[in-house]
Amino acid sequence: MSFPAPQGVAFPLAHISTVVQALESQEERLRAHWCLPREEARLLYLLAVVGRYRRLLEVGTSIGYSTLHLAQAASLNDGSLHTIDASVERQAEALLNLQKAQLAERVTFHPGDALSVLNRLQAQGQAFDLMFIDARKSEYNQYFQKASGLLVAGGLLIADNTRSHRSKMQDFIQAAHADTHWEISDLETPSGLLIARKCSPGQP
Ligand SMILES: C[S@@+](CC[C@H](N)C(=O)[O-])C[C@H]1O[C@@H](n2cnc3c(N)ncnc32)[C@H](O)[C@@H]1O
Repeated sequence: MSFPAPQGVAFPLAHISTVVQALESQEERLRAHWCLPREEARLLYLLAVVGRYRRLLEVGTSIGYSTLHLAQAASLNDGSLHTIDASVERQAEALLNLQKAQLAERVTFHPGDALSVLNRLQAQGQAFDLMFIDARKSEYNQYFQKASGLLVAGGLLIADNTRSHRSKMQDFIQAAHADTHWEISDLETPSGLLIARKCSPGQP
């Protein structure tokens, strides 16, 4: 079932409203850069806010549409966001969007290969409360393995495209469902979102 989206509805909160609306008025551009569907971006934002997550990590910045939502949540929670993308050009555009929204100071940009950056963050002893994965679909299982080390107990993993690109990530889907350290909801949203909470040690 699909619900017709009301047009021109202002994002209710703070600075990102104008920037997000400007991006959303360029549907082709959002599609061309593989950005999240609008309602999924809203859900991402809401999950981050209600979970009061402060240390956020994004794998796959593109031009910053999902990044704006996560950075806004980080701002409300007095937290910060690290975001990774192999494309320096797309990250440069994301930075401009974050600057326009007055959220750039909340965000650390990591240009480069996702797995290399994730390894580096882990080697630095960084820990995160929420990790959003939206980069190379064939690498999701490897991102998931990294999430086990990078996320704190009680942390949330959100993976996009589990419906639209499911065949490319069967190893990830199976591993996530088989791992009793995670509580999972495999949502059939337009692109598909797998949401997983890392359980505390000693608990199922
Ligand atoms: C689906 S787009 C991200 C969209 C963004 N999350 C949004 O919703 O606005 C995927 C991004 O991942 C990046 N990417 C793909 N493979 C990558 C890899 N192995 N390492 C780092 N970035 C990668 C691409 O450059 C692209 O910008």
